[in-house]
Amino acid sequence: MDDVPARADDKPLLQTLKGQSADRLPIWLMRQAGRYLPEYREVRGKAKNFIDFCFRPDLAAEATLQPLRRFDLDAAIVFSDILVVPLALGQKVWFEEGKGPRLEAIEKADDLAKLSADELEPRLAAVYETLEAVAAELPAGRALIGFAGAPWTLASYMIEGQTSRDFARLKRFAYGQPEAFERLLALLVEAVARHLVAQVRAGAEAVQIFDSWAGVLPQPELKAWSLAPMAEIARRLRAACPGIPVIAFPRGAGLTYGAFAEEGAFDALGLDTTLPRGWAAERLQPKTVVQGNLDPVKLLVGGSALTRGVDEILEALGPQRLVFNLGHGVLPETPPEHVADLVARVRGTAS
Ligand code: CP3
Repeated sequence: MDDVPARADDKPLLQTLKGQSADRLPIWLMRQAGRYLPEYREVRGKAKNFIDFCFRPDLAAEATLQPLRRFDLDAAIVFSDILVVPLALGQKVWFEEGKGPRLEAIEKADDLAKLSADELEPRLAAVYETLEAVAAELPAGRALIGFAGAPWTLASYMIEGQTSRDFARLKRFAYGQPEAFERLLALLVEAVARHLVAQVRAGAEAVQIFDSWAGVLPQPELKAWSLAPMAEIARRLRAACPGIPVIAFPRGAGLTYGAFAEEGAFDALGLDTTLPRGWAAERLQPKTVVQGNLDPVKLLVGGSALTRGVDEILEALGPQRLVFNLGHGVLPETPPEHVADLVARVRGTAS
């Protein structure tokens, strides 16, 4: 009852993302809500399917808060999916149980005419309601993160129609019909920026843009199709919501992480599992906060693989200008106790 909501600047995640020294080293995990938690599987069972789940604010808010009830995490990330944006643009999206996402694929330039952002916010109203519900219940000192997929990764699902092995259809479209592809990216920049603005207005205090498939692009396309659209989204979001911290996660960008840091458009960079930490400390951290990058399989295995993995990250990148996270999402086979071990190790070692 006498719980006074913490001021934004009392939240370690927000302090760190803004480049201030924090009361403690913040930690949250990509895909911290999900199938590795039995209580997630239980609420998931109440929805008709995964899309329905994402659009049920009562169930989605519950899934968002579950990991914070179990673990001493510094943030909740709204339970939703990157594919709600193609859905809101008018594309057919569904999930096949055990297989993953399916979309009615874009095959030719003409198919783009069927997509429109006109109804974006009303169609995603349930996501914003979820954020409002979570914001009202968030424990003191914890931050609420909103998110979206980056245009390149969204385009990959929209053109491939599913997760791909080689992205040949996507690349054939992008290289072969560059004008149509640029139009698609422009539509996605507009849609993602507006979706993030609406999330912030509904209570998100920081956002992450996931470019899960950035790593399949060669140069110079990585800069043109991953970095540039993400930077434009960050600029539009900041113009509408001054001061909102933006985390970019260009998974697999390799040396081009350097260009992401130099761009100056992002408050933090999510490092993928393979990025060398010494290089990141030397080349990225002077310019930006970094987040990452424990191998999710070390979390799954636990024990000394986990504790050594944690210690290596804290030594190389901590304790300042670091948000502890994984290098990719929590795997469904992960024992929940390992997440508790991970948080305890970060809390015990961080100064
Ligand atoms: O991090 C969180 O806890 C918030 C929730 C979240 C989900 N998806 C829930 C989800 C977030 C941030 C995402 C992002 C997302 N979705 C990405 C980018 C991050 C990444 O992993 O690279 C991508 C590429 C997607 C698209 C997507 N959604 C795929 C490929 C799949 C199938 C793979 C899988 O793990 O089953 C999904 C489904 C999905 N999204 C699940 C969850 C918890 C599992 C669905 C289920 O419960 O059956």
